[in-house]
Amino acid sequence: MLFTGIVFAPYGPLCNAVSNVISSMSLGQRFHPQDQEFRTMLDLMSHGLEISVNTSILLINVFPWLYYLPCGVFKELRRAEIDITAFLKKIIARHRATLDPENPRDFIDMYLVEMLAQQKSDNSEQSLFSEDDLFYIIGDLFIAGTDTTTNSMLWSILYMSLYPDVQEKVQQEIDAVVGSERVPSLTDKGSLPYTEATIMEVQRMTVVVPLSIPHMASETTEFRGYTIPKGTVIIPNLWSVHRDPTVWENPDDFNPGRFLDEQGKLLRKDCFIPFGIGRRVCMGEQLAKMELFQMFTSLMQAFTFRLPEGKSAPSMHGRFGLTLAPCPFTVCVKAR
Ligand code: HEM
Repeated sequence: MLFTGIVFAPYGPLCNAVSNVISSMSLGQRFHPQDQEFRTMLDLMSHGLEISVNTSILLINVFPWLYYLPCGVFKELRRAEIDITAFLKKIIARHRATLDPENPRDFIDMYLVEMLAQQKSDNSEQSLFSEDDLFYIIGDLFIAGTDTTTNSMLWSILYMSLYPDVQEKVQQEIDAVVGSERVPSLTDKGSLPYTEATIMEVQRMTVVVPLSIPHMASETTEFRGYTIPKGTVIIPNLWSVHRDPTVWENPDDFNPGRFLDEQGKLLRKDCFIPFGIGRRVCMGEQLAKMELFQMFTSLMQAFTFRLPEGKSAPSMHGRFGLTLAPCPFTVCVKAR
């Protein structure tokens, strides 16, 4: 049967929706999809993350002066950094100018209130709070909280378009548990194991932060016969863990069923680590899981996605940067 619907590129609306979650928490404001400055920031961030890992950051780590080259990716990277810095500093300045210490509105206000209190106190030199640190904190939250979850959502829509049978099973489960009269909520999570298994399988296959974040050995360590000297930079390869054939049966196959037992209950797997592992595990893991569940179930409840008629799937290898993004694609969406 012919699938008729509206063809659109999901990147813009999804990125905007995802970024508005972390923006409202950390910057105290949401942005309209037509807000040109915000759109430019999102594009700069996504492009900056892509080019930062491919060559530039690796080279800059070895030859720091490359950062100042007035050409190529180095110039682009610097431009992105300068513009994002100006955007965030303007928001901090606006908060400072309108701060009412009795009524903090968001994270920035709370931080400024504490910073001012510490500056007034007797041991103000030992204060851990500064406006520079505030800038880095909200920058980290804004960047880490936008690109990762956006790409996870994009991958999940792409996989649903490519695997209509899985999409249908997810929709049947949502219809049976939630129905169509109310939006899904987090309290439904436990009753939607196939849906959760599908989100997890998309995360397993796509590993949106494939090389995690570089770590450094804080002391000389023996590991499986290797000596890792103090100060060694360690790059954890999460992608290889998620595709390890000794752990996962047919690791390259998309199969949400691998996260379910015979009774259809959700299985937790130790080697499923899209958010990293250990002491520096992703700080936003719980928030990201809530966002993914809420957005994915709401979209599946209301819409069906397919690749546009006559269009082949984009390369499923994606575009490798600090995050692994799907190649640009359009989908055909139809209200259910
Ligand atoms: C699907 C979405 C996400 C994925 C797959 C993801 C993945 C990761 C990974 C692999 C790391 C590195 C962990 C390590 O160093 O071992 C990380 C770190 C981090 N993530 Fe996420 N993340 C996601 C969403 C978020 C969100 C929404 C936030 C915002 C609150 C966030 C904030 C951070 C921060 C601040 C760190 C650095 C933590 C630290 O070094 O202590 N992430 N994330």
